[in-house]
Amino acid sequence: MSNNVEYKMPTDPTELEVFERIDSYVIPNDMKETLRFYDDWADKYDDDLDVVEFKGISQATTTMLRFTSSEERTRSDFTILDLASGTGRCGKALRDSGFKCIIDALEANEAMNKKASKKGVYRNLTVHVVTPTTKLPIEDKSYDIIVCTGGFSRTHIQSECIKDVVRVLKPGGLFWFCVRNTKQAENFNKEVEDVLSQLTSSGEAEMIIRQEFGYYVYKAEVKESSETVSIPGLERCIRKLK
Ligand SMILES: C[S@@+](CC[C@H](N)C(=O)[O-])C[C@H]1O[C@@H](n2cnc3c(N)ncnc32)[C@H](O)[C@@H]1O
Repeated sequence: MSNNVEYKMPTDPTELEVFERIDSYVIPNDMKETLRFYDDWADKYDDDLDVVEFKGISQATTTMLRFTSSEERTRSDFTILDLASGTGRCGKALRDSGFKCIIDALEANEAMNKKASKKGVYRNLTVHVVTPTTKLPIEDKSYDIIVCTGGFSRTHIQSECIKDVVRVLKPGGLFWFCVRNTKQAENFNKEVEDVLSQLTSSGEAEMIIRQEFGYYVYKAEVKESSETVSIPGLERCIRKLK
């Protein structure tokens, strides 16, 4: 059963089953439960996301292509961190779209990370739970780009952690991430905006992109006819200035 009454669920039974699994991301109450949730999902995750496509990844690659030159994408010292990399779908998409540079992965769940390592797209894969009270196990100013597709939410990485993400970006580096833009995520998105305005008003970062896109898109029965439902997401990209 879905926990969400904001949008219509898919009509296709397979899509519905998958979507209900995806939508259960709100259930965990703490990080321990989130880790268990992904322990249970790791084996099915890639198959599920082939059924109901998560558009955050194509949005991330499109935007990153827009903000990088082909010279940067092929440079051996140009570095990308895929944060909350899961089974490595975003890293793979970046590779497939021409990012031949270094891509590292950092992910909380061991089982998801094992799947990612099999994709053969990352230089280093680190298992680490990102929290507001522990620093990322990464030196300051290490990465040109950090992408995070679906890793920030109330039950995942907290908004406060954005500050430490910025610490490990090189000056001029980009941090791209996406969050659902639903009623359920309203408070979380407010927290994100607070952190981002602290960073922009202190001159540490500037906002490059903040726009809505279709996070998940599928067919559903709406008023007795089949319509395309688009669950909104927000893509945000900031540039570190100092
Ligand atoms: C919805 S999945 C997205 C995975 C991948 N980025 C993708 O687009 O397919 C969210 C991922 O975030 C990871 N995650 C959740 N909380 C985390 C945390 N505090 N630190 C690091 N990773 C976390 C989960 O283990 C899971 O693999």
